[in-house]
Amino acid sequence: MTDVERQQALEAIAAEVLACTRCRLHETRTKAVPGEGDPETEVVLVGEGPGFNEDRGGRPFIGRAGDLLVKLLASIGWRREEVFITNIVKCRPPDNRDPQPDEIAACAPYLRRQLEVLDPAVIVTLGRHSMARFMPGARVSQAHGTVRPVDPETGARDALVFAMYHPAAGLRTPAIEVESYADIAGVPAALIDARRRREAVRAAASTAVPEGVDASAAIVEALSAKPKPAPWTLAETAGSHPSPAPPSPAPASPAATAAPSAGDDPAPQLTLF
Ligand code: URA
Ligand code: SF4
Repeated sequence: MTDVERQQALEAIAAEVLACTRCRLHETRTKAVPGEGDPETEVVLVGEGPGFNEDRGGRPFIGRAGDLLVKLLASIGWRREEVFITNIVKCRPPDNRDPQPDEIAACAPYLRRQLEVLDPAVIVTLGRHSMARFMPGARVSQAHGTVRPVDPETGARDALVFAMYHPAAGLRTPAIEVESYADIAGVPAALIDARRRREAVRAAASTAVPEGVDASAAIVEALSAKPKPAPWTLAETAGSHPSPAPPSPAPASPAATAAPSAGDDPAPQLTLF
């Protein structure tokens, strides 16, 4: 898929979301919030659902939780424009209640299709509703800061999921905010592991297979290779865990294009979807 095709596919999904009436949340929303970010990114962040500010603005994570999310990303040298940010449900649940199972199910095809288009290497889940999709059965209190391979049924063909607390939990509980900085410091290493896995799968898939040999066996083997606990990958990316010192220059950037250097357009265009 070319860059232009990817962008167009995301815009088509966003247009459907803006007009969607598949669940009752459409009745009370002001604006649906499809998500936004770099269509070429390797990293997708998935929250729960729009809150008050997002419902007004039509963009994800633009309130206080979003401010903390931006600070967390900055601690590893990343900007929100370099990743793709979206939610499990695209319309605000009234009074910020939890999204209900039938609403989550109704909205699921949009996220699945976004992931099919984006083909991320890493999915960062923010909070338990998002984690439930990508790490079924896990508990945030135990799984935060850990990675797992993603089930391709989610739409992400070959990704690792990295679980985090929801930023709103960090706003409520200072200890969770501190843990969130420690957690996100592990994301660049997860990205490097994810790239390695994807390269291994591609190499296995492109290797000529003698007649009668099951080609999928090599792919299965590559896929089941555990992400290596390689401490040097941390040094290569974002300083040593759990210190959230920003790297300089920031390596393992999730964006396909280099960050604009000083002197470039001072207000980079945000790609809205
Ligand atoms: N909380 C979320 O889960 N998503 C948003 O977009 C904003 C706040
Ligand atoms: Fe449609 Fe999702 Fe909004 Fe429900 S939450 S109306 S399924 S876009």
